[in-house]
Amino acid sequence: MHTSSKEDGKHTMGDSNAGKDFQGTNLAKPIAYLGLLVCVVSASACRDGRSELDQLKDKTARLEERLKGLEAERASLRQEVLHLREIRGQLISSSYRKMNPQQVQVMEEKREKWEKLSEVSQALGLKRGSIVADVGAGYGFFAIRFAQMVDSADHVFGVDTDEELVRRMKHRIQKLGLRNVQVVLGSTGDPGLPSGLLDAVLIADTYHEMKEYRSMLSHLRQALKPDGRLVVLDYF
Ligand SMILES: C[S@@+](CC[C@H](N)C(=O)[O-])C[C@H]1O[C@@H](n2cnc3c(N)ncnc32)[C@H](O)[C@@H]1O
Repeated sequence: MHTSSKEDGKHTMGDSNAGKDFQGTNLAKPIAYLGLLVCVVSASACRDGRSELDQLKDKTARLEERLKGLEAERASLRQEVLHLREIRGQLISSSYRKMNPQQVQVMEEKREKWEKLSEVSQALGLKRGSIVADVGAGYGFFAIRFAQMVDSADHVFGVDTDEELVRRMKHRIQKLGLRNVQVVLGSTGDPGLPSGLLDAVLIADTYHEMKEYRSMLSHLRQALKPDGRLVVLDYF
């Protein structure tokens, strides 16, 4: 070995034979550079990977914090909207209750144009002989029109909690000669309707006023036939 190394004239004193053989090839330098490159690349990948993870962690925490703030703001805005709706509803209802018969007529003529009565009756599934209740009937805008649609005896209930409106609705119905409408004075949580008889119930522009809505819904469920329909029409 020593002799042959000497013959190459490329090895150094004190090196092992294997080392001398390796260094003696042309690959020594490229392999060393490659090793160095691998070290640099992997170190930088590790360093970048760690900071990327940290950045993601920070960003997630920042976004989560922002989300919490937005959720709190959303909840407070929602409360404000509900409060404004309630006030708006009360204002509309009080001006609604103060209408004289001429104003009611003008209002109803306008409503005939935009209220989409045929869509409402379709949603209720109304047909000749259907038994239907208009809960929160007011002056009877829907109850009166349903009575003309279903066209048979005692098949429409017009329910309201306001005694004055109930009186005025009765008066209108008598004047129109409608015999199939029964006007009912209900209480806030109970419409006072018979059990299991109704095909459909409409609550129009009234649901937002129903403070005892759970009790109301449970009574309405009792009043409806198993396949009966409840339609809530609300502009709020
Ligand atoms: C804005 S008016 C709407 C009247 C009618 N639905 C209409 O579209 O013309 C609301 C009516 O609901 C009645 N009302 C409010 N709470 C009620 C309840 N719990 N049960 C029945 N009627 C109620 C009010 O007295 C008022 O007549």
